[in-house]
Amino acid sequence: MSLISKILRGTKDILPEKTEEWRRVKDILYKIFLDGGYQEIITPTIEGTGLFKRDKDDTSDIVQKEMYSFIDKGNRDISLKPEGTASVVRSVVETGLINNSLPLKLFYFTQCFRYEKPQQGRYREFYQFGAELFGSESFLAEVDIIYYIDKFFKKLELENIHLEINSIGCDECRPIYTNLLKEYIEKKDNFCVTCKTRCETNPLRSFDCKNPICKEVLNKAPSINNHICESCKNHDKDLKQALDGLNISYISNSKIVRGLDYYNKTVFEFTSREIGAQGAICGGGRYDKLVSEIGGKQTPAVGFGIGFERLIMIIEHQNKQAKLAEKVDIYIANIEKSTFETTIKIFKKLDDDGFKVLFDIMGRSLKSQFKYADKICAKKVLIIGEQEMEKGIFLLKNMETSIQEEFIINDFLEGKTII
Ligand code: HAM
Repeated sequence: MSLISKILRGTKDILPEKTEEWRRVKDILYKIFLDGGYQEIITPTIEGTGLFKRDKDDTSDIVQKEMYSFIDKGNRDISLKPEGTASVVRSVVETGLINNSLPLKLFYFTQCFRYEKPQQGRYREFYQFGAELFGSESFLAEVDIIYYIDKFFKKLELENIHLEINSIGCDECRPIYTNLLKEYIEKKDNFCVTCKTRCETNPLRSFDCKNPICKEVLNKAPSINNHICESCKNHDKDLKQALDGLNISYISNSKIVRGLDYYNKTVFEFTSREIGAQGAICGGGRYDKLVSEIGGKQTPAVGFGIGFERLIMIIEHQNKQAKLAEKVDIYIANIEKSTFETTIKIFKKLDDDGFKVLFDIMGRSLKSQFKYADKICAKKVLIIGEQEMEKGIFLLKNMETSIQEEFIINDFLEGKTII
């Protein structure tokens, strides 16, 4: 094989076997969020680089080191979006959508691009399903967002996924804490150079450091939980109380700081230890200043992004694909030339009645057709051969119980129900 160009590092093809599963998972997410009052938004893949690089003091690797940025033919500085949130905010401000009645609840499914070192669960092009809720300062906005994510994981029956929550305070209390942390880091010799440098601009970033020595020393660092103000404390307390009431379990983790700079108060991640080093399946939090930073009126907001590839990895790891498969209600087998006309009428009626019904198109042996029905998870198989035609009946076999029932064709075509 002499391909003129091979797939780029950190990207992947999603082949039909997978796209089917992707679509099913997406459909479940879409249904849950649509039912929850969220509407879909689609934003462009490219944006002006300034949308993401808003602040010269931004300390996040995502914005500082990992963006795919280039100058286009019109001499504009453009970036492939590294995340969905900033684009959604730009869009709702630019189109005025955010000026309509609040809350504004949006979701998206989008490609993101980050120039990271590829490894299992970490790609240079990946997909995020995310949602953003604008307009509420109340902890109930976090409750709303977290409730639907949790509902989705429960619907998929995924196990061992932990919700980890933290409060990183607000503009009033965070600087007091970051100064303390800075002093702590400066006093210790064993922090790595990156932590020491980051300490100047944003000491919280040290919590992202993977160096085991830094991690160890940070275990004894002052905890943000002891330094947030009353208002942030109450917000955190109310949120956790509401989660308790909804039976959503969580772990309080003062080390969650998130990789983007725009958060305040609540930050959270849904994590799993079953998919290797890249265990964060979903991340999000509150960002009350981003809308005004991007040019809109000050509007509080909460949101999250689920990494779709990591989600699929965990579904496959826990073998939950089968649960997702939409079962075929009825598979019509054994169609012969002499029975075709009647069978197709039965098919049409079942289809009109809203059943998921398929008919055999291969003309293989009845045994092979049953094997196929099993493979596509058909609940029932409808058999109508010459013998049945002569008696004016069809057979319906329940694939789970193997019970076979007879139905009179004319009764059925005239409206008698069979399920
Ligand atoms: P994030 O934590 O940077 O947050 O990304 C969200 C999720 O995207 C992660 O939890 C992870 O599952 C997935 N992800 C991140 N990088 C990669 C990668 N290189 N390859 C595969 N998956 C990846 C955000 O992007 C925020 N915009 C979330 C948010 C929305 N916050 C508020 N609203």
